[in-house]
Amino acid sequence: PKDAFITNLETTETFPFRVEELEAKAKEKMSKNAFGYTRSGGGGEETLRKNTASFEKYSILPQYLNDVSNVDTSIELFGHTYRHPFLLAPIGMLKTTHEEAELAVAKAAAKLDVPYIQSTVSSYAIEEVAEVSEGSPKWFQLYWSNNENISFNMVKRAEEAGYQAIVLTIDTTMFGWREEDMTNRFSPLKAGYGKANYITDSAFLSTLKQDDEASVVEEILQNIYHPKLSWKHVAELKKRTSLPVLLKGILHPTDARLAIENGVDGIIVSNHGGRQLDGVISSIDALPAVVEEVGGEVPILIDSGIRRGADVVKALALGADAVLLGRPYAYGLALAGQAGVEKVLTNFMQQTRSSLALAGASSVKAARNIHILKD
Ligand code: FNR
Repeated sequence: PKDAFITNLETTETFPFRVEELEAKAKEKMSKNAFGYTRSGGGGEETLRKNTASFEKYSILPQYLNDVSNVDTSIELFGHTYRHPFLLAPIGMLKTTHEEAELAVAKAAAKLDVPYIQSTVSSYAIEEVAEVSEGSPKWFQLYWSNNENISFNMVKRAEEAGYQAIVLTIDTTMFGWREEDMTNRFSPLKAGYGKANYITDSAFLSTLKQDDEASVVEEILQNIYHPKLSWKHVAELKKRTSLPVLLKGILHPTDARLAIENGVDGIIVSNHGGRQLDGVISSIDALPAVVEEVGGEVPILIDSGIRRGADVVKALALGADAVLLGRPYAYGLALAGQAGVEKVLTNFMQQTRSSLALAGASSVKAARNIHILKD
């Protein structure tokens, strides 16, 4: 396909190609609070920095003369075929960034056939997102609530709306220490940006004693996370849904093994984009040990620090089945709404395709055989 051979010399586009410029332009456009919330990480941001820096320790050792005129970028996950080896990571409270928030992202993802993982703490409800992106692949990300009924109800709603998988985020049993948000005195939850799925949930509404805005937000804050979360909850979730369940936030290979023992269908190696515990290992550094432990028993996805096509090649070569794209699409949303997300995605698609080809892989499967050297 022609798009594999596009170069920036052939276009008059003004939309940023460089992810660094994308971020800089988004910063100009966004409010200080919204940009701070999106960009920042936990603590002193050691992990946030490592997430991107660690990729540079891995070098691709390409092999040429393989006929890479047709690169098959498709993947298969849980019986579905997706056209690209990436999905959109769950990013909550997107109304901080753009009025159309998840609706714009879901529409862009639908148009380009990229699976979208919708966050529990969205600015639009599951049903609203489903309505604007009917028939397109979507997964639902769950923050396990202190009130189990709310969680199971949301899972049921996602099932009914045709979502294809449940992603339980496990690294968020409480709030991360986000110094930038604290300095800005900014809590997007308190500002009401993440409430859509709660105020449309019968289980949540039945716990409400008063329905004024302050009481609603307070009740969400009480219910959002579950510090007692343990493996028995994972087993319980498996019993409650027929959809595949993935755990997002696995870094330790032993946790990957326990996930499989508890019936989990997929693993997402992630440190939440460096936003939770600072000082944890970068995702790409955590990946090889998890891949070795899992040994192909379940699919392994990865996020945190994926910025360019070469990052995708490295992740696939190190054993990931797909990657999740995070902050870059939020910056695209900030710059130009749905069209901005589409731009970020099409650039990323073209870059991924040409990176695979230039590394000598004609398919995602073949990418597994690309040699990677670690510094
Ligand atoms: C997130 N992430 C996230 N994860 C999750 O499971 N539920 C959520 O609601 C959110 N919300 C959220 C908001 C914002 C502003 C960001 C940047 C991230 C984490 C996200 O899914 C993913 O793990 C990271 O974004 C990956 O890191 P990079 O690639 O964005 O740096």
